[in-house]
Amino acid sequence: MAKKYFEVENNQDDTPLNPHELVQRLQGKVGAIILLTDRIDEDVLSQCPDLKIVCNIAVGYNNIDIPACTRHKIMVTNTPGVLDDTTADFTWTLLLAAARRIVEADQYLRSSQWSGWKLMEFLGYDVHHKVIGICGLGRIGQGVARRAKGFNMRILYTDIIQVNPSIEKELGAHFVDKKTLLAESDFVTLHIPLMPQTTHYISAAEFALMKPTAFLINASRGPVVDEKALVQALQEGRLAGAGLDVYEREPEVESALIGMKNVVLAPHIASASHETRLLMATMAAENLVAGLTGKRPPNLVNEEVLQR
Ligand code: DGY
Repeated sequence: MAKKYFEVENNQDDTPLNPHELVQRLQGKVGAIILLTDRIDEDVLSQCPDLKIVCNIAVGYNNIDIPACTRHKIMVTNTPGVLDDTTADFTWTLLLAAARRIVEADQYLRSSQWSGWKLMEFLGYDVHHKVIGICGLGRIGQGVARRAKGFNMRILYTDIIQVNPSIEKELGAHFVDKKTLLAESDFVTLHIPLMPQTTHYISAAEFALMKPTAFLINASRGPVVDEKALVQALQEGRLAGAGLDVYEREPEVESALIGMKNVVLAPHIASASHETRLLMATMAAENLVAGLTGKRPPNLVNEEVLQR
């Protein structure tokens, strides 16, 4: 789509560029469509003075220094909305896989260890009629809640503000404080953006409040969870298991997690469906074209840049 309007240079590799390569590729360019693995900070911006717009193919934009972009009069866009259901589906994939031990069971069968049906083999935890605690009832959190209704779960949520009562009613979701949510939930799932205030939102103090039979699900951003504290809680049996799509230092994963059978690990793929990734890429291209042809990009993150 962008090719219709501009001269376009691509990184066809689908492998992240290192900071030096990124700068080299962005120099002399007026717009960029980037991935969440591309860090756009003061250092990059000061070396790429022609940039006018940066379009992230992701809803989260913690890889971009927004105030620095605004200072440099650069518009920043993201891809909200199109990945909500896909990410909510995947959150449930992690939740069910962890609770019902499906990865472990699959590996057991494939390695020819199964010798026949046993009454006590691979006992997991029920999901239906349990309590789900959703941290962040934005669009993705609401998608998770909608699915939880079908499992007849009690739905608790916490957030910086209480959502509209009509949404609470539709979802059957009850607003509680963070401590209550952690203490009462059988499944705690995170759907909050990564910001300085949400870094290590779940750490040792939070694990201490959770039930030893509870599961933690994270398909938001890795640093929202203190990974070392998570490992310790799991090692000490203070948590039944976890389903993780994101990590503190991607693509590194705490080595202790790799050996844990009660943890399901995915490589940051919650939005990775054919349909959704195409929608995300298209949305980023639309934002780019709008921004560079004098229109307001539909998913502008730093509105304040327009005042400059
Ligand atoms: C996002 O959009 O922020 C995801 O992490 C990738 O889909």
